[in-house]
Amino acid sequence: MDLHITGRSAIVCASSRGLGLACATALAREGVRLVMNGRDRARLDEAARHIADETGVDVVTVAGSMDDAGLRAELVAEAGTVDILVNNNGGPPLRDFRSVDREALLSALEANMIAPIDMVRRVIDGMVERRFGRIVNITSSSVKMPLPMLDMSSGARAGLTGYLGGVARQVARDNVTINFLLPGSFETDRLTGSFTREGASRGIDPAELAQARRDEIPAARFGQPAEFGAACAFLCAATSGYVTGQSLLIDGGAYPGIL
Ligand SMILES: NC(=O)c1ccc[n+]([C@@H]2O[C@H](COP(=O)([O-])OP(=O)(O)OC[C@H]3O[C@@H](n4cnc5c(N)ncnc54)[C@H](OP(=O)(O)O)[C@@H]3O)[C@@H](O)[C@H]2O)c1
Repeated sequence: MDLHITGRSAIVCASSRGLGLACATALAREGVRLVMNGRDRARLDEAARHIADETGVDVVTVAGSMDDAGLRAELVAEAGTVDILVNNNGGPPLRDFRSVDREALLSALEANMIAPIDMVRRVIDGMVERRFGRIVNITSSSVKMPLPMLDMSSGARAGLTGYLGGVARQVARDNVTINFLLPGSFETDRLTGSFTREGASRGIDPAELAQARRDEIPAARFGQPAEFGAACAFLCAATSGYVTGQSLLIDGGAYPGIL
């Protein structure tokens, strides 16, 4: 299926590993030029080199934290024209809501609500002028199904969804779409790291914890990042211009509702 985005240019935030990397890879395979980002420069450059070698597309890297407004400006300046924006960032740490103080809350809001909104603000007028834009925000299944210890993530991402859901309706007539991808349990460093940490603190084998989680998922497995990347590329397709303001949950059936 030709997505008709060959030659377009994308910024993929937080894309040196995991779901961001999967989105960048899927877009590059469609012929999209990339600006990639992550904090660890060596890892970022290696990921970029790998994609460029495989696909032949131009890949530029900008290392730094998405929480830094200066870095966000640099990303946009480096890209020049931005046709596609994939907003992503690290998630907040697991924490009991009673211990979430003002500082922790502000930092979660900066990372998972303010930074992505700021990125949209920086690129959207150009998209409107050129009458093409695809914005995909990586959020979490916790937006639909809030989970204990993830209250900062659920809250900040729900705020992002409400804010940009409204913006989506204001730019739809200009062929600019804004959508949300909600991962359930995907096999990335973040997920496996959470089993390792929990296993160490409770004295349980992380493999046992991982199996218990798989057993709760109707698909009986974790999602693979490439499956997530494919959904991202679909939302960025030229032919997806009528899909906007939507939250696509990708969780192997873990969410029990049908709506
Ligand atoms: N995997 C899941 O099952 C799952 C489920 C629900 C929600 N999510 C959410 O989806 C997002 C991606 O998760 P993932 O599983 O792909 O995580 P991951 O495997 O830990 O990868 C995170 C990526 O983001 C980069 N990054 C982290 N903090 C950054 C920052 N401040 N500025 C720039 N880049 C940053 C990392 O590179 P550096 O460390 O080098 O910066 C890395 O490339 C997270 O927000 C996560 O909470 C994931």
